[in-house]
Amino acid sequence: MDQLDKTNLPRHIAIIMDGNGRWAQNHSLGRIAGHREGTESVRSIVECCRRIGIPYLTLYAFSSENWNRPEKEVKALMTLLERYLKSELKSMMRNNIRLLAIGRTGALPPRVKAVLDDTVAKTAGNAAMTLILALNYGSHDEILQAVRTIAEEAGRRAIDSASITEESFAARLHTRGLPDPDLLIRTSGEYRLSNFLLWQMAYTEFYFTETLWPDFREEQLLEALLEYQKRERRFGQTSAQLQKTRS
Ligand code: IPE
Ligand code: IPE
Ligand code: MG
Repeated sequence: MDQLDKTNLPRHIAIIMDGNGRWAQNHSLGRIAGHREGTESVRSIVECCRRIGIPYLTLYAFSSENWNRPEKEVKALMTLLERYLKSELKSMMRNNIRLLAIGRTGALPPRVKAVLDDTVAKTAGNAAMTLILALNYGSHDEILQAVRTIAEEAGRRAIDSASITEESFAARLHTRGLPDPDLLIRTSGEYRLSNFLLWQMAYTEFYFTETLWPDFREEQLLEALLEYQKRERRFGQTSAQLQKTRS
């Protein structure tokens, strides 16, 4: 942790937590045991980000496509989520962490939705870090919802098409008010986005690792952060231009 440059930390880290099933298989366990162990990584990474001073952390916990998994697995994931939220409230309050959710959370089982809403409400005043859970989240769906809202507003002449800007579009996404991710981490050696934050990741740095999510803890996060600090984020400019503005 001492090797980290405190002046060059990502403001927002997004993580595709992948590989729970393979972790379980490698340990001759059922997939659900892998998800349970994955929850321990969530605890560890949230705590670690809070300690390092990362203001925003988004975790992809359940995609809109994950409903297609076996019913037993979906049920177990929902139960784990409910348990996680209940057990973490104390620590979120103690650590001044605010919880938000993105995705169509209205379609979650009512019990899960209730605990989620309760946790979001109770932690709303916390300010040291924002933890965002992507639940029943799909980027295409999120973008389409924004398009529908805009079309409806234009239909009743509340806005005109020329006034739609990147900012006003982004303000209609679930991530409204949040900065775009600076760093995306995907575990388990998969090199794809799986419908995650497509609009928001236009200039995000990508970090892929073979490590399976249940094995991704503080040491692996530090490795990702050190790699991030080696990157030069040019945003379309040349390297020479950036050196100039820095000096
Ligand atoms: C990620 O692990 C957890 C969720 C998608 C909910 P997986 O369950 O996708 O693990 P693999 O990809 O099958 O190993
Ligand atoms: C992406 O993982 C979704 C989450 C981590 C919640 P998946 O394991 O569902 O992704 P694909 O299906 O392999 O792309
Ligand atoms: Mg997977």
